[in-house]
Amino acid sequence: MLSRIIFVAVFLMMSFHLCLAQDGQIEEVAPGIWRVHFGQTEVFTPDRFREKDICTESLAGLPEPGELPFKLEEIQCQIRQARTIVYIPCDEPEEQIYGFGLDSGAYEQKGLRKYLTVSAQSIGKTGSSHGPVPFYTSTKGYGIYVDTARVPFVHVARLSAKASISASKVNDPSSETTEIKTTVEELYAARAAEGRTEVVFDIPGAAGIDVYVFAGPEIKQAVQRYNLFSGGGVVPPLWGLGMKYRNYGGGNKDTVMEVANSLRKFGIPCDMLGLEPGWQTAAYSCSLKWSDDRFADHDAFVDKLVGMGYRVNLWEHAYIHPSSPLFEPLKDKSGDFLVWGGLVVDFVNPEAFNIFSEYHGKNFIDHNITGFKADECDREFVDNATPFNYPYCSTFGSGIDGDQMTQMYGYLYQRSILRAFKQRNLRTWSDVRATCGLSSPMPFVLYSDSYGFNEYLRQLVNSSFTGLLWSPEVREAGSLEELLNRVAMSSYAHQMCLNPWFVPNPLWTQYDRGKNERGELLDNAGQEKVADAFTRIINRRMSLIPYLYAAYYEYYLQGLPPLRALVMDFPDDKKLRRVDDAFMFGAALLVAPLKENASQRTVYLPAGCRWYDLNADIWREGGNEVQISLTPGEVPVFVKENSIVPFATPVEFVADDTVFALTVKVFGNTPVDLTLYADDGISWNFEKGEYNQIKLSWKDGKGSVQETGPYQKKRYEIISWEQK
Ligand code: GAL
Repeated sequence: MLSRIIFVAVFLMMSFHLCLAQDGQIEEVAPGIWRVHFGQTEVFTPDRFREKDICTESLAGLPEPGELPFKLEEIQCQIRQARTIVYIPCDEPEEQIYGFGLDSGAYEQKGLRKYLTVSAQSIGKTGSSHGPVPFYTSTKGYGIYVDTARVPFVHVARLSAKASISASKVNDPSSETTEIKTTVEELYAARAAEGRTEVVFDIPGAAGIDVYVFAGPEIKQAVQRYNLFSGGGVVPPLWGLGMKYRNYGGGNKDTVMEVANSLRKFGIPCDMLGLEPGWQTAAYSCSLKWSDDRFADHDAFVDKLVGMGYRVNLWEHAYIHPSSPLFEPLKDKSGDFLVWGGLVVDFVNPEAFNIFSEYHGKNFIDHNITGFKADECDREFVDNATPFNYPYCSTFGSGIDGDQMTQMYGYLYQRSILRAFKQRNLRTWSDVRATCGLSSPMPFVLYSDSYGFNEYLRQLVNSSFTGLLWSPEVREAGSLEELLNRVAMSSYAHQMCLNPWFVPNPLWTQYDRGKNERGELLDNAGQEKVADAFTRIINRRMSLIPYLYAAYYEYYLQGLPPLRALVMDFPDDKKLRRVDDAFMFGAALLVAPLKENASQRTVYLPAGCRWYDLNADIWREGGNEVQISLTPGEVPVFVKENSIVPFATPVEFVADDTVFALTVKVFGNTPVDLTLYADDGISWNFEKGEYNQIKLSWKDGKGSVQETGPYQKKRYEIISWEQK
């Protein structure tokens, strides 16, 4: 009898979980953005640690917010002893959902369960990644951000609440199973959840939550609002748009200098050289001290590279080795567990944050270092012999919990380094292996040890929903075709990076890892062939730098990501909802890289306009699938009708005073104007308005240029106009 009473009580509680939920307090925080607040706001969240304020003015300039498909009051929350659960409506059978960060496995998110933990490995479609972000956006034209540094489980429209069962099904014999399935595939085949199918965030450890809702009217504007809420998109230094080459981890200053000379000898454009672990006296954990053995007279060495037009980037991580000058000052300002024998910095402690920041400023930035590779700030998903996890039960003097620190370590680490650059009024273009929500203003690009071609491409598309930058780097290849297709994909990424850190010889001398390690190099002709192919591919990127820079400025000013999933630009074309292998690169170019070893692929061109095929030099109709055959290393690129795209004469590297010579190409008869941006390319003065807008227009068969703004120097010179 007692067990029956308990059963009935539990049943009643479960059936009415939504009735027990609390109402949120609703506040409009900026035009088209609302906060729904429940319970106690947590002390440590991305919002609390934001790098920049909300861009309220830019938000006011966006199109009128679209109407939400649900009422804000319908967002419900339950706060239990050990967790907070948020229920967000999503009841349109047609609706599709995108986002959740740097997911490598899934593009369409509906029906999935996400586990948004920061991780060095992407695990299937779970969303655990280098950048798990609790933001999603819907084809119904809105976005949702849940401001937490905890590790949420998100059930994306996959749960069927008991309350939703239709009365007509009860005691209805026709709903009984007639055919019994006997294969595992059939039994577990995906089925649409029935009835109301909310997105449910289950957040262990939280006793309250702020949920932010971003209006559309479409995905694109919802994402723009999210980025502007985050503080606006980043503007890289101009040189950051060139190629980054990372050197052999076990090398020394001679091997790096050889690479530097060889790149220039072959004419392979390169702006940034990265040094891997060997520059330090101890790595894993890090001493953050130059090795005089391998890099004697390092200041002169760095200056020499700078004189050759390179910007120098140092690999490191934030686990501090006992031999480091930072060990003593940080000993009491770090977590209670070590990683690789080093301290885990308590970046929430302002003193620790400053000590780390100032050390980088004085020892490196003041000595011509312009970027860092902030490695290993994620965690092993599964514990193995590589112990770079501090546990969730870690304690830090600042009071932040171990799970929150793990989720935010990469972001706080970035902020500490960025502060040192900002104090010197210098931009940086750095690398990082972990970040969290609200990262749009950060000049740090994510990268990975993973290497799946399709996953890398999907991550490029997925990153565009949540303010992330992604570098699908090239390390090695099993064939020349694969090598060139990888380099080609990387050339259309947020950052272009070749990172053969584990091989002693440059990548163009041998791309097969084993052979490179054994010194079995290509013959001279083979090396030249690869080097020439690299040059051709990188030159194409170099020619697009002014155009790409403009796209980043739109990111900063309007929150519009420089690379975008096609659903963002063409919301009415439903065929694009599944396309996770092509993207918009700036306002006008649709890029659909050749896969792995392929020389052919199918590309669906969005409906509503014609597209100019840059490789075939012909117009193609939109709303069609086209078969493309090209040599590996080429990239299928299509220009949207009625666009203007400036192509620069490629330079080997971007100097502070580079003036780009532009051939402006006009595609179509009534093109929309394109605005380029000119500034000093290296400082933060643009944030005070020190930049020019250069409007390129085409009317009645003639091009015109209108430049406005206070910047005094010349950045672009237009050589000619051409119409297609
Ligand atoms: C890895 C990193 C690689 C390389 C290596 C050096 O963690 O992802 O890109 O830097 O460390 O040890």
